Amino acid sequence: MRFVDTHTHLYRESYPDNFEEVARRAIEAGVDKMILGCVNRETLAWLNEAVSLFPNNFFVLIGLHPEDTKADFEDELAQIEAHLDDPNMVGVGEIGLDYYWDRTFEKEQREAFYRQLCWARDRKLPLSLHIRSAYNDAIEILKQFRQGELSGVMHCFSGGIQEAEWAVKHGFAIGVGGTVTFKNSKVQDIVAHVGLDNVVLETDAPYLAPVPHRGKPNESSYIPIIAQKVADIFNVSLQTVADQTTENAYRIFTKLPR
Ligand code: NI
Repeated sequence: MRFVDTHTHLYRESYPDNFEEVARRAIEAGVDKMILGCVNRETLAWLNEAVSLFPNNFFVLIGLHPEDTKADFEDELAQIEAHLDDPNMVGVGEIGLDYYWDRTFEKEQREAFYRQLCWARDRKLPLSLHIRSAYNDAIEILKQFRQGELSGVMHCFSGGIQEAEWAVKHGFAIGVGGTVTFKNSKVQDIVAHVGLDNVVLETDAPYLAPVPHRGKPNESSYIPIIAQKVADIFNVSLQTVADQTTENAYRIFTKLPR
């Protein structure tokens, strides 16, 4: 069985003591394609190292995370944009809006988000979107683009049914991770509502480990645990979830080699 982890931070910065070991564990668990999220210019070196050590397994997103969007965002964007042709680059991310902890730079966040959406549109690249406590503003910005100009994944989806319907209608799959295994998680209802065709798997490791590892460091090797929960929701086999979500990932990330 083979899986794609469509959003993980499995690079040395997250696992300073055992990066290679954690990577091998994922590959042995069948998670042989992993898409690494970029958060700021410091991440670029870690992405490069992961790709050079495991060129068949690691693929990268390039982008500036909303929580890393500060007063100097113009400078960050210029440095990050220069990496859009890096080896194994498959999309723009993780980008979006996050008003949850801090709204100091919300204006800068919106500007950086719009500018990076233009990168994706102009280069026909898929997106990995990080949106938290900001769905209304994010959708307003996404609406400035025409239908078909943007596509990708709503990573770590935390919106409601309405936002999920909007996303799917506008070319976005729902990124489902460890939170789907949490008790009373509303992500379960979202998954059931959008259907297996619109779901991709992700860990967001080292964050948000699924039950029974909740609260401990997450790893991409836990993707089958998330997949099993999705299989339970649809009452289908683990193999069906592996096949369909992998197919969905290839449909979205067109530069990801088979
Ligand atoms: Ni992430």
